[in-house]
Amino acid sequence: VSPEANYPLGCWYIAGTSDEVGRQLIRRRLLDRDVVLFRQASGAVVALEDRCAHRSFPLSHGRLEGDLLVCGYHGFTYDAAGSCVRVPSQDHVPYGARVDAFEVREQPPFVWIWLGAPGESGRRAPYHPSWLHEEGWTSWGGQGHIDANHLLIHEDLLDLTAAPFVYPEIAPPVLLSPPPLEVEVTETSVSYHRTFPSGRLSGWQAGATGLAEDQDYEQSESGTFVSPALWVGGWEVGAPTEHGDVHRLAWAYALTPAGPTSTHVIWIAARNWATAQPAITEYMAPRFEEFFRRRKSVLEAVQANLDGSDRRGVSVSADAAGLRAREIVATMLAQERGRAVLRPR
Ligand code: FES
Repeated sequence: VSPEANYPLGCWYIAGTSDEVGRQLIRRRLLDRDVVLFRQASGAVVALEDRCAHRSFPLSHGRLEGDLLVCGYHGFTYDAAGSCVRVPSQDHVPYGARVDAFEVREQPPFVWIWLGAPGESGRRAPYHPSWLHEEGWTSWGGQGHIDANHLLIHEDLLDLTAAPFVYPEIAPPVLLSPPPLEVEVTETSVSYHRTFPSGRLSGWQAGATGLAEDQDYEQSESGTFVSPALWVGGWEVGAPTEHGDVHRLAWAYALTPAGPTSTHVIWIAARNWATAQPAITEYMAPRFEEFFRRRKSVLEAVQANLDGSDRRGVSVSADAAGLRAREIVATMLAQERGRAVLRPR
C-alpha cells in the first residue's frame, strides 16, 4: 500500500538554515517537490522548482551567473522569479518557458518556504521562538533525515514518556513516574505542560548545569505543536542560574516532509545559563545528537512496521497532545482539499 500524503501544503515549512543557503545551489525535496535554493548577491534567498522547463534536468546541477541560474544541460537561463530569460541556441525564449518560484521568508536561523496555493501565504505566518532572538540565550543545532511520517515524529515529541525506555541512561529519573499532562489547545496548536515532584537530575543534566546529582530539584517540561512544520519545547530546573533565573533549556524541531514516509529534521537547542562557555555546548551537543539518532532509529522501525498504512494502536492519557495534533492536521487537510475542489491549482 502506498501511504497517502498527510501534510497540508498551506503551511510555512522550514526549507533550510540561513547558514547553509549561500551562493552554491542546494537541492532539497520538500513536500514531494524538488526545490533548488540559493542566495542572490543582495542576500535574498530564492527557491525554484528544481527541474528545467526544457528537458527536466535538475537546475541544481547548473551554475549561477550573477543572480541568474543557468541550466547545466543546454543553458536555459532563469531569473529569480522562475522565468526563462535566455535560450542559447536561438534568439527568442519560447512562450511558457518558466519554472515555479516559491515564496521564501528568512528569519535566521531559519529559511521558511511556502509551497501552498500562491497568494495564500498571508493566511498564516512563520513562527519565531522568542529565545532565538532574546539576549541571555545561546543556541546550537543540527539536522538529519528520518524515514518516517512527520506525524509520527510530532507524536513522539509530544510525549516524552518514551524517554526512560529509549534513552535510559540520559532520561531524567523523574520521567519514570510522570504526573499527568496538562494539555491546552487552540484551533491550530496544542501545548502540554508537566510539573514533576522534586527529584534527581540525570547525570548529563547535572554535568551540563553544574548542579548536584544527589539533590532533588523541581523540574517541569513543556512542548507545543506550533504547526505541522514545527514543534518547540523546553525543560526547566528550579535552581537559579548565575543570573538568578531558573535553568531553562529550550529546543525546536523543524519537520519538513520530503514525502509521506520521509521527513527532513532541523533542530535547534538553547540554554539560558553559562552562555559564554562553549565547553558546555560541546558537552551538550553530542547528547542532543544521540537523542536524534535514537528517535530516528525508533521511528524508522515504527514506520517500517506500518506497512504503508497509518494503522493506529490503542492510546493512553500520555498520548493526549499527540492525538490533538493529528486532529489539527486532519482539519487543515480537509479544509485544503475542500478548497481545492472549488479552486484547482
Ligand atoms: S534541460 Fe535545461 S536547458 Fe535543456
